This record gives sequence, structure tokens and C-alpha cells, in this order.
Amino acid sequence: LPGGDLSGRTILITAGPTHEPLDPVRYLANRSSGKQGYALACACRDAGARVTLVSGPTALSPPSGVRFIGVETAREMEAACLEALPVDVGIFCAAVADYRPEIETAHKIKKERGGLSSIPLTENPDILKSVSRMSGEHRPTLVIGFAAETDDVIGHAEAKRLRKGCDWIVANDVSPGTDTMGGDNNTITILTDNGEETLPQMSKDDVARALVSRIVAAFDD
Ligand code: C5P
Repeated sequence: LPGGDLSGRTILITAGPTHEPLDPVRYLANRSSGKQGYALACACRDAGARVTLVSGPTALSPPSGVRFIGVETAREMEAACLEALPVDVGIFCAAVADYRPEIETAHKIKKERGGLSSIPLTENPDILKSVSRMSGEHRPTLVIGFAAETDDVIGHAEAKRLRKGCDWIVANDVSPGTDTMGGDNNTITILTDNGEETLPQMSKDDVARALVSRIVAAFDD
């Protein structure tokens, strides 16, 4: 988007998984390559926005020209996000672990020393929900969440939009055979107050550019 349609806008993006440590060598995590979030960071940067990318561990290199904050856990991701506010737009693409092990042991859990037959869990903060429900100027003008679903994609995503309190939900179908999970393509439906728009399957870079154009249009209104 030459001309910088988002110039002067500040945008916070979360990407990648979070890792929730159990002991020094083990963690709980969601599957997430970070590709869609990094593509969004680049597309927003290319449109002239000032981008903060808060990312969990991925195999990708931090994009140039964005403020990059690498984190490990959901609690670190939340702290980095709160620190980055206020922004005009928040895009919450990360696959945050909903739960973390209640305790992180300082020493490696050993089978020989009794091992572990279950892992007590405790709930992580919901970053999208808490930012969506902020009041005053700390709430971004536009809050966008993502929803990876395998069935009744639209129904679940719309319920999620209302539950979280975000403005838009970008729903993606991650069922087997879609090439979404870990792949280079994505098929999305954007749900807003005004209804839904389903885009054909395209590269994650093109999905990012399509979303940027919707964001530009939202600010033009
Ligand atoms: O509830 P679910 O994890 O499916 O919601 C997905 C959306 O919520 C994504 O935008 C994700 O980044 C965000 N989320 C979050 N913090 C959590 C869990 C999810 O920001 N603890």
C-alpha cells in the first residue's frame, strides 16, 4: 500500500505461541508458527504504521522496522502488551496458552524420583479480553482478535467476539487439510458489528494486506 495509509497510527500485534514452563526443560504450548502475526506486522509497517510486535517463541526472525518484544509466557506477553498501550489498533494473533502449570519446579522432574502423573493447572490472563474491556483512552480504537476453529467456524467466532468484547474477530478454519496450521496460506472470515466477510484462500501475506485495507477503511469512516 504505497502512500502509507496507516501513517501516524500505532499498532500492537501479538504473535506466536506462549510457552508455559513446567520445569527447566519442559513446557506447555499451543501450535503456532507466528507466520500470520509476523505478516501482519510487516503489512502494517509497510502501510506506514508504528508497530510493536510482541511475540512468543517462533522460528522466525524479528521483522525490520518494527519494535520487537520477545516473550515466553502469557504473563510476560500481557505485561509487554500493557506496556505498549495506548495504541490505535490492537491485533491479537497469538496462540496464548489458556492454562499454565500451577508450579514450575526448579529441578528437572525425574521418572526415577517418582515422576509426575498429572499436572495441576491454573488459568492464564486473557489478554484480548482484558484489553477489549478497558475503558477510556487505554482501550485501542479498534481491537481485533483471532479465532482458530475446526467446526461451526462462524458460529463459534461470533460467540467469541461477543464474549471477549473485541470489535472484530478474524476466524480461520484450521481443520486438517486446510494448510492453515503452520502453512503459508490462510482462509479467513472477518466478523464485525456489521456482519461477516469471507475471503478466498490466499497467502498469509495477502491475508495481512487484506486486513490492512479493512483497517484503513475503518479509520476512513
Ligand atoms: O479463546 P481463544 O484462545 O480461542 O481466543 C483467541 C483469541 O484470544 C486470539 O485473538 C488470542 O490471541 C486471544 N487470547 C489472548 N489471551 C489468552 C487467550 C486468547 O489474548 N489468554
